[in-house]
Amino acid sequence: MRETLLIGQILTFSADPFVAGLDAVHHDSRGAILVRDGAIAATGPADALIARHPQAERVDHGQGLILPGFIDAHAHYPQTGIIASWGKRLIDWLNSYTFPEELRFSDPAYAAEAAACYFDLTLANGTTTVASYCTIHPESVDAYFNEAKKRGLRALGGKTCMDRNAPDGLRDSAQSAYDDSKALLEKWHGVDRLGYVITPRFSPTSTPGQLSALGTLWAEHPECLMQTHLSEQTDEIAWVKSLFPEARDYLDTYEAHELLGAGGLYGHAIHLEQREIDRLSEVGAALVHCPTSNTFIGSGLFDMRLAGALRVGLATDTGGGSSFSMLRTMAAAYEIGQLRGNPLHPAQLLWLATQGSARALRIDDKVGRIAPGMEADLIVLDLASTPGIAQRSARAETIWEAVFPTIMMGDDRAIAATYVAGMRA
Ligand code: GUN
Ligand code: ZN
Repeated sequence: MRETLLIGQILTFSADPFVAGLDAVHHDSRGAILVRDGAIAATGPADALIARHPQAERVDHGQGLILPGFIDAHAHYPQTGIIASWGKRLIDWLNSYTFPEELRFSDPAYAAEAAACYFDLTLANGTTTVASYCTIHPESVDAYFNEAKKRGLRALGGKTCMDRNAPDGLRDSAQSAYDDSKALLEKWHGVDRLGYVITPRFSPTSTPGQLSALGTLWAEHPECLMQTHLSEQTDEIAWVKSLFPEARDYLDTYEAHELLGAGGLYGHAIHLEQREIDRLSEVGAALVHCPTSNTFIGSGLFDMRLAGALRVGLATDTGGGSSFSMLRTMAAAYEIGQLRGNPLHPAQLLWLATQGSARALRIDDKVGRIAPGMEADLIVLDLASTPGIAQRSARAETIWEAVFPTIMMGDDRAIAATYVAGMRA
């Protein structure tokens, strides 16, 4: 039996800091995590754990801050190649950049290369779990899950379904979306650490018939999550109103087709009406905040006060988002909070990028937390990774002052180590 003790600074959360405040957080300036068989077996002060487990291999990360691996609750791995494309808002951005790139994923070799590139980038950025949209091509889903499986990752994803308002070659039908999604779900859901997510892109690109077919599939497979986009831009919302004149609001286009539920992940959710907030809360749905995307595409300012009533995950939304880094994503969430008069505490930001996202994805019994029994997906942050960060963190008098410069200015250079199921990635 192989046992490893990872030693460093450790932050653990006993509760949601949005509800419990800072009492929920414990900081060990020299803590340790005992990893056995890919899982966390024990945590505590380093000296005590070393005394109890003298035979365990020791990896001392010094002043490095050990955290759960970051969890990106909404991304589009096929958009890796078009990240940072200039000058368009949502609908034009989809038509100009996204759809032409997604067309290329009918080629399995192209999809495999893109998936490998994507996971290289996410792991380098300390992200150990992603929930990704693929393209309409089943090949793109196979490429994604094959690559995640090869790396031993916990990963979520699904075939993006669209049967209207998308170019030739990028449309399926109600029936083929149902059939392909079902076949992929049966092939991948529950294999190793993989989970299938039923994925209608958004109401403008699905007919009511397709939304219904996917609602039926979800009812048949309630063990799966369902992901889609909701109320991202005002132009988009006006388009939804014209496409679904009978709907009470944007959420109603999903609700009317059995696509509203506790396992639902609603990306963006910026311009919500009160009825939508009430219904999302009633059913216990999860929202996913994608702050770099919301500023990059010019969508608007998410209201993090919703985190009191709803599960909220944090996400890059690659490549509408402008970074693969959850640190950059936390910084953008902080800035959007400031613009809304709601500055998020570093504890809240770190929690959102780990346990908050895990809870949104309903995998918080497996990852996102440093506690016995959890899978050992862990990262080590260097809190002095650049001269600019180092000179600021050197003045820190508290752990929060030490970590906030890395949240605001850090990137992949701050990721000193990434462990996937206890193995160095
Ligand atoms: N809405 C529908 N599709 C997309 C997408 O690919 N990215 C973003 N940001 N919003 C969307
Ligand atoms: Zn998205």
